[in-house]
Amino acid sequence: MFKINENYLKLQGSYLFSTIAKKVAAYSAANPDKGIIRLGIGDVTQPLAPAIIDALHGAVDEMGKAESFHGYAPDLGYEFLRNAIAKNDYQDRGADIQPDEIFVSDGAKSDSGNIQEIFSLDNKVAVCDPVYPVYLDANVMAGRTGDFNQATESFGNVIYMPCSEANGFVPELPKEKPDMIYLCFPNNPTGSAITKAQLKEWVDYANRIGAVIIYDAAYEAYISEEDVPHTIFECEGARTCAIELRSFSKNAGFTGTRLGYTVIPKDLKCGDVALHSLWARRHGTKYNGAPYIIQRAGEAVYSEAGKQQLKDQVGYYMNNARIIKEGLKAAGYTVYGGVNAPYIWLKTPDRMTSWEFFDYLLENANVVGTPGSGFGPSGEGYFRLTAFGSYENTIAAIERIKKL
Ligand code: MLT
Repeated sequence: MFKINENYLKLQGSYLFSTIAKKVAAYSAANPDKGIIRLGIGDVTQPLAPAIIDALHGAVDEMGKAESFHGYAPDLGYEFLRNAIAKNDYQDRGADIQPDEIFVSDGAKSDSGNIQEIFSLDNKVAVCDPVYPVYLDANVMAGRTGDFNQATESFGNVIYMPCSEANGFVPELPKEKPDMIYLCFPNNPTGSAITKAQLKEWVDYANRIGAVIIYDAAYEAYISEEDVPHTIFECEGARTCAIELRSFSKNAGFTGTRLGYTVIPKDLKCGDVALHSLWARRHGTKYNGAPYIIQRAGEAVYSEAGKQQLKDQVGYYMNNARIIKEGLKAAGYTVYGGVNAPYIWLKTPDRMTSWEFFDYLLENANVVGTPGSGFGPSGEGYFRLTAFGSYENTIAAIERIKKL
């Protein structure tokens, strides 16, 4: 009889957002008359910007003619897109990243799950707590963790770095030495940001102990404060210790269109082996590239018209964030986030657990959010709302919550 990868049996329940979707579907089926407002999963609601739609149309037409048809995309992504990324997201910010250090992909979720493959199973992983579940689950599947301990609600052989009110939701350097450190800033789920000085401490630490930082900057477009870095490569020394993951989902609405990229500087080495060449090998073997038409759409994100339209779109969502934050504060809630990120992290009232508050909100306000405990033990007693709804739904949701 064949054997399965038993590491999968260590995973808890289903993926967080699948569990929520099932609960909401069951409630909705039992209460078909209730208008449910979904502020749970961080999925965008605004249409793709006109500059992106134009680029898509143009690329679709190209695919319909033999002379401009495109088959398999180059392994690392099309040069036109990698050049635009290197210039706009890095070089214009003073970060030394070259186009051939960028790997275009179908999004940051797959990259953040897959990147661990190029590291030894012996490596010790450190994650923030609470954390975007993909980093941890991918390491569980690979066999880099111990079993799940129901009492502590955590996996063995993992360094959990608590992010709490006390540390402003930015983790302290761990006591135990990690090999792979996952950081996400602006943060999902807490909506917190890290300053450049704080991030530089992490970079220095990683270089000192020989660890790699896997830095998820998917929410970079939402940064509004001056001292918050847009990329880890703004920090001196990051080229020898960091990998950065980026997404087109949150800044440009590509959640259904799928596009992202990973940056691996050529200076990032283990002995004399460059991680860049390992990921290039992995990418070439297991991936056939994001579609041409989608990469053309991604290029339009960096056009003058695209930039302006997306600035407006981000502004639209951040106005929602403000409405949620101010509305909840006025209703007596303790709230965090929402300034450099499209997530609002609130404390559940009346000592309710995160899942109790989820049910309470669903049943009494018909509003869906995400229970903090779904992101890790330190998320217990917290709840996440996203600013990615429509303006109208955001206003309505807050009105309903205020009436509770
Ligand atoms: C979230 O709600 O945390 C995000 O939508 C997850 C994701 O981007 O995959």
